[in-house]
Order: sequence, then C-alpha cells, then structure tokens
Amino acid sequence: MSVFSNRECLSPNYPIERYWKNIPHRNTQIKNLWDFYGDILDKKGDSFLRRLQIIGPAGSGKTCTLKYFGKKFEEEAHKNDINIDHIYMNLKFEGGRRIVFYRNLLSKVEPGLFSMNLSVEEMLRNLFDYLERKGRSLLLTIDELDYYVKHFKDEQIVYDLTRLNEFIPDRPCGIVGVTFLARDDAFHKLLDLAELSSLGRLYIEFKPYTPIQLENILTLRARDALHFGTYSDEVIELIADITSQPPINGDLRYALDLLLYSANLADNQGIEQITPEHVRKVHGVIYPELTTEEILSLPDEEKLVLIGIVRTLQLKRRAYATLKDIKLNVGVVTEEFGIRRLKGGIDEYVQDLSDRGIIDLKSLLEIGISGVALEDLTRFLNSLIKRLQKGFANS
Ligand SMILES: Nc1ncnc2c1ncn2[C@@H]1O[C@H](COP(=O)(O)OP(=O)(O)OP(=O)(O)O)[C@@H](O)[C@H]1O
Ligand SMILES: [Mg+2]
Repeated sequence: MSVFSNRECLSPNYPIERYWKNIPHRNTQIKNLWDFYGDILDKKGDSFLRRLQIIGPAGSGKTCTLKYFGKKFEEEAHKNDINIDHIYMNLKFEGGRRIVFYRNLLSKVEPGLFSMNLSVEEMLRNLFDYLERKGRSLLLTIDELDYYVKHFKDEQIVYDLTRLNEFIPDRPCGIVGVTFLARDDAFHKLLDLAELSSLGRLYIEFKPYTPIQLENILTLRARDALHFGTYSDEVIELIADITSQPPINGDLRYALDLLLYSANLADNQGIEQITPEHVRKVHGVIYPELTTEEILSLPDEEKLVLIGIVRTLQLKRRAYATLKDIKLNVGVVTEEFGIRRLKGGIDEYVQDLSDRGIIDLKSLLEIGISGVALEDLTRFLNSLIKRLQKGFANS
C-alpha cells in the first residue's frame, strides 16, 4: 500500500489557501493586512488607491498568505453586498512587456474588456469606465515584483500601478489597493526616484519560518497527504532541521519537496514507513536552491535550454561553460525532444534563468549553476535532468 492518502496535497501547486481555514504562523501578517485594508470595507469600497509591499525570502508563505487574505477580503465584501474582487497577478508568468501585462490583467477582470488593438492608456481608460459603470472595485496582488523589475527595467509597471488613481484624480478609481510581493528590497535600487517615491517604503515582513514553525506546518501538510503511521515526529523534525539551516534558510517549499520525495522513495521501495534514512538520501540528491516548483514553472523552451546548460557542464566537467558551447548543446537537446527550433532566443532564456537565480551568468564565457561544488555537480545534474524531463513530459 502507498504511504500517500492524497499525493496531490504535497504537490508544489496545491492551493492550501483554498482549502485551509487559516495559514499557520502567518496570523500577525494577516492581521497587519486587515489593519491596512480592512476599513475599505467600512467605506463600502469608496476609497482611493493604497499601496503596500510584502517582503520575505523564498518559501516564507507570501504568495499563499496573500491569496488567502484576498479570498477572505473578497468574501467579507460580498457578504456585505460590497462589489470588490481580489485579482492576483504573477509577474513571472503574466508579466512580459507592459502591454502584455495589462492585456492579462484586463482579461482576468472581464474578458470582454480586452482587445489586441488597444494601447495601455486605452485599456486603463476602459477598465476604469467599466469599473465605474458596474460599481465594481478591485484589490490587486502583484507577485514577483523583484523578478520583474530585474528583467524588465524599462517597462515602468511600478510607476503605472502606484499612480493608477492619477488617471481619475478627483475620485476613487475603482482599484482600492495594490499589494506588491518581493523576496527582498534590493529591487528598489533599480527603480527610478519617481517610482520609488510612489511605491513608498511601507512593507510587511515575512521572516523565514523557525524550526518549530516548520515542524508544525509540516505535520499539518503531512496529515493531509500521508496515511497515519507512515511518518514519525522524527522524520518531520529532521526535515525541519535541514530546512531551517543554510543554505535553505527556512524555505518551506524545499521542506515540502523533501517530504514528497522521501515518501516517493518509500513507495518505490515498497516500504510503508518513511524513515530518516529516506530523508537523508533524498536531501543528498536534490539541490536545495532549486525546487521542483521553480523548474516546473519555467516556460517549456526554457526548460530545454536549462537541460542544454546542464549537459554542457556535464560534458565539460567544469563549473562554467561558454554561451557558444551551450548553444551547441541546446541544439542537440531540442532535436532529441523533437523540436526543430526554439521560438525564443537562447540568449534571452539564459538571461532569464539568471534573473530567476537558477544559473550564474558571470559573463558570456562563464555560465554555471550557482553555488554547486564541482564534485556535487554531476550527481545533482543527473537528478535535475530526470526532473526536467518529467516536467517537460507533464507540461
Ligand atoms: N504557513 C503555511 N502552512 C502551510 N503551507 C505553507 C505555509 N506557508 C507556505 N506554505 C506552502 O509552502 C510553499 C511555499 O509558499 P509560498 O509560495 O507562499 O512562498 P513565497 O514566500 O511566495 O515564496 P517565493 O518567494 O519563492 O515565491 C507553498 O506550497 C505553500 O502552500
Ligand atoms: Mg511566491
């Protein structure tokens, strides 16, 4: 029998915010969010745009907490007959150039609003007209802003989004709040002064989960996904310990990966109990700074480029490879996957992989995978290719 009662519950995309009654250990942040936005409901949504930032490292629960808050805020509004909806946008997937972002935003708000021929200004004008006509308001959550600013420096989304109310200066514009999420505030340096000043410096901090918090959360996640008796406190404690230390520093996503793969390993061995040995073994072969979610969320073509980079490093047996060598190997990989040529440019994918922190782009002659010791590289790369191939096959 499998150790899993519901494997899905440990998948990187499982939306706890939809199913759980609260987000454990994020009550303070959720209270802060209510303090900041709550009175908008007292005003029945008749409120000028507010801006807020959320700063916290990878896997500290920013995305799930803000999705949870957005859902609660929306429910509370609807209960009181206030027409406010929460809209979540992830700039890594729905960003792109400024115009692409607004097309995606409009089609989320109301598919009929969107037309390929409109400029950004026209789209915004339509959006505000629509919101006024319908008496509808929006609370926006904009995720992965730091990635976006790094990648699309000149698109000025921050400028627009923080000044939306200037389109309609005399009254609330229908967008009551924009919450921006980022891993740290280093992206502030890339903003110009006008953007920084309208973004403000107000933020709610998400500290990494402590070992005890990790244990509590993992126990709850394990309860959802695994049969009773298939895991021990010792296993949960070990995963929490590994996760709370460098280089993982509390990234819960890694802890969930570790639990998922350890459970898989137990299943594959036909054992009905996950042991600390399983955890140690899995921890030895998966690379901490690269979680499954990050790999699976790459655009398909970018996955192929990553495989190409991995191959190049393997063949060269060096920590770094040149862009020229990488291009050669990407060609081989695309052929293997039955793809004639990539739609995007390899240079752009390489740059994007670097912006995502997956590879190290020192120069065009020195491209590597960040932070992996040479001796660990081959072992890691082999497991990465397996995961990539699986991710590619599933996508
Ligand atoms: N308090 C919690 N209880 C249960 N699961 C949680 C909790 N916090 C986070 N998670 C889970 O951990 C994973 C990572 O969380 P989340 O995506 O919210 O992190 P993040 O801070 O947005 O990270 P990143 O900066 O990498 O986007 C998700 O699968 C989420 O469901
Ligand atoms: Mg996130």
